[in-house]
Amino acid sequence: MERELEGRVAVVTGAGSVGEGVGNGKAAAILFARAGAKVLAVDLNLEAARETERLIAGEGGTCAVHQADVSSAAGCQGVAQACLDRFGRIDILHNNVGIELAGGLAETSEAAWDRTMAVNLKSMFLLCKAILPIMEAQGSGVVINVSSINSIRVLPALSVAYAASKAGVNALTRELAIEYAARGIRINAILPGMMNTPFVRAALTQAYGGDIGEMTRFRDARCPTGKQGESWDVGHLAVFLASDRAKYITGAEVVVDGGQTLRM
Ligand SMILES: NC(=O)c1ccc[n+]([C@@H]2O[C@H](COP(=O)([O-])OP(=O)(O)OC[C@H]3O[C@@H](n4cnc5c(N)ncnc54)[C@H](O)[C@@H]3O)[C@@H](O)[C@H]2O)c1
Repeated sequence: MERELEGRVAVVTGAGSVGEGVGNGKAAAILFARAGAKVLAVDLNLEAARETERLIAGEGGTCAVHQADVSSAAGCQGVAQACLDRFGRIDILHNNVGIELAGGLAETSEAAWDRTMAVNLKSMFLLCKAILPIMEAQGSGVVINVSSINSIRVLPALSVAYAASKAGVNALTRELAIEYAARGIRINAILPGMMNTPFVRAALTQAYGGDIGEMTRFRDARCPTGKQGESWDVGHLAVFLASDRAKYITGAEVVVDGGQTLRM
């Protein structure tokens, strides 16, 4: 299983991190590369993607970077073309980009709603539109859409736009999984629970009075294991779903939450 993605090419969106440390996209990119895949690290923030490239190159893996805003059709077409230009094929699309503009109905502006839907949901639709025809022509491919347990449960900090966008990600996953099941393409969603990532520290600290320590204690205490998960937990599942070991898994919503949803 060590190099089970040898010869495959993976596009990872949001492959950098919004802050110091390893986020979900960065962890998945590193683990895909460790499994032998060549990785195109896509990010709006080129320097963040370059940091991932450096880490992968430092381990002897293969990674190239590409700057794009995946909420635009042109950006997504550019991702597909860049990957073909650099590596000649696309076997894995890891749709990881997601933002959270937290708040209930009163706090969520129309602009925040629209931006959330464009970045979290439309990006995955557009990237599938750009890349699935390429996978279809190759006769195989795997798509992994990063959703959230917030798509199926209400979390302590309300986030109406985020939750609705992630529920859309699940529905998109199901629809496309059926549409492409007989064409050699598998499409699954990962639903992370509370993970301790740079994304969480950047997006949610405000909701906890600006105190990271307080937020960490609160979130750890909500987890049945007593600890939030790590980005690596999401990344390891992504490698499994991308591999042939998961050849009969499509249209699934796989929860990685240390049992948290069972309590909700
Ligand atoms: N951390 C958690 O607790 C948790 C829980 C559930 C789901 N998730 C999901 O995990 C994913 C985030 O993972 P992460 O830790 O890699 O996030 P992150 O916030 O660290 O973002 C990764 C990268 O995405 C880039 N990005 C943002 N908008 C972009 C755009 N429009 N186009 C291209 N790149 C863009 C950022 O520049 C950043 O470098 C999201 O989909 C999020 O909803 C996280």
